[in-house]
Amino acid sequence: MKIKKAVIPAAGYGTRFLPVTKAVPKELLPIVDKPMIQYIVEEAKASGIELVILIVNHGKEAIEDHFDINYELEDTLRKKGSNGLLGLIEGLSDMIKIVSIRQKKPLGLGHAVLQAKHLIGDEPFAVILGDDIIDAPKPCLLQMVDVYEKYKKPVIAVQQVSREDTSRYGIIKGRQTDNRVYMLDDVVEKPAPDKAPSNLAIIGRYILTPEIFDILENIPSGAGGELQLTDGLRELLKQKGMIGYQFEGDRYDGGDKLGFLLANIAFAMKRTEIKDKLLDYMKGYVK
Ligand code: G1P
Repeated sequence: MKIKKAVIPAAGYGTRFLPVTKAVPKELLPIVDKPMIQYIVEEAKASGIELVILIVNHGKEAIEDHFDINYELEDTLRKKGSNGLLGLIEGLSDMIKIVSIRQKKPLGLGHAVLQAKHLIGDEPFAVILGDDIIDAPKPCLLQMVDVYEKYKKPVIAVQQVSREDTSRYGIIKGRQTDNRVYMLDDVVEKPAPDKAPSNLAIIGRYILTPEIFDILENIPSGAGGELQLTDGLRELLKQKGMIGYQFEGDRYDGGDKLGFLLANIAFAMKRTEIKDKLLDYMKGYVK
């Protein structure tokens, strides 16, 4: 069955970016001039997704506005003949269908995904985490859709991280069976380096089957007292098997200050109008 729906959790407080996130949703922080969440929604669209389900909390209305029409602004730009600028915003409202649901309590990533149950129904679907910005010639989610179509099993994106970083990620245990493909035996949420079964970390792209909802409704809360998606994956893996897919592309951790800055530099370097001046400026920092 085709993957048509993607869940994008956007209900966090963004505390790592305070004070800016006091009134501005983290998802709208820009990488160069585009909000992080627009990169994610564009990836979804380019991967064949037709419906995006945003999981939000209060204070995130500006995300919905970003993907809505702004008649006044469009009209002003049109009258001024600013067609270049108009082109940057005009297509946003009909790029893809977006609905949002509120997660009323911050009970964890598993709980956030569970809020989409009634909108997903009985079909496989994607989950994309807004903090993980992936720059790839073929969109990461599309790479995973192809893997799903071949193996017909849930697929999660993985990437090598250094040993000391395993406690920041879900970590997989599995056997490599093909180029970039691992058959998983287990997944563990944020293990200490000496307990981690590998250094392959789960990155925020998942293709899941609807059994995950019953599982999430029935498992207890895990690390940090939160309903962890990784704990749900562990059970789904037992029922259906699961693939870890080492995607092609550069990943930036937009949820971390350094990762966010690196993403800004990397994407700025792709812009001809910025690249040379940025390089000149950075030379001042090279000893
Ligand atoms: C979440 C998941 C974790 C995954 C990570 C990827 O953690 O729980 O398994 O490795 O996203 O970014 P978080 O970053 O929300 O702490």
